[in-house]
Amino acid sequence: MAALPILCYPDPRLHTVAKPVVAVNDAVRQLVADMAQTMYEAPGIGLAATQVDVHQQVIVIDLSDERDQLQAFINPEIIWSSEEKKVWQEGCLSVPDFFDEVLRPSEIKVRALNLDGKSFEIHADGLLAVCIQHEMDHLKGKVFVEYLSPLKRMRIAGKLKKKTKAGAL
Ligand code: NI
Repeated sequence: MAALPILCYPDPRLHTVAKPVVAVNDAVRQLVADMAQTMYEAPGIGLAATQVDVHQQVIVIDLSDERDQLQAFINPEIIWSSEEKKVWQEGCLSVPDFFDEVLRPSEIKVRALNLDGKSFEIHADGLLAVCIQHEMDHLKGKVFVEYLSPLKRMRIAGKLKKKTKAGAL
């Protein structure tokens, strides 16, 4: 396993739309293992392949305190979302040190493939629902700051560009 470099907003590669995984093979399982290590080392609770510049529909999530409950979703699709919405404070490994509120459906049903290539469905609420939607946005080329006002987004992009120039990231 190897930790991979994480793209930082406003890197244009974060806006690439990911392609579906054609076959869940050893290369995909290796990608999941590398993404998990990258997420654990960062540390974060979720990571999309887009963030490590791999444009395939793969996300990993681990919400456990012990960091031993890895969930991988390959080709995830939201098949139902609740009318009810909820605001959560979100952050992102590609937007270090910024947190802001995003409104999203509070419950979702997701269908995806597991590491054996088998289809499964889960009903998610709370933080898991937020995290899956946030990571799936990455696969569509969308970063959470795009839900914020253009002014806020410009400020964030400006600050992060400065940091990158100074070699802080
Ligand atoms: Ni993110």
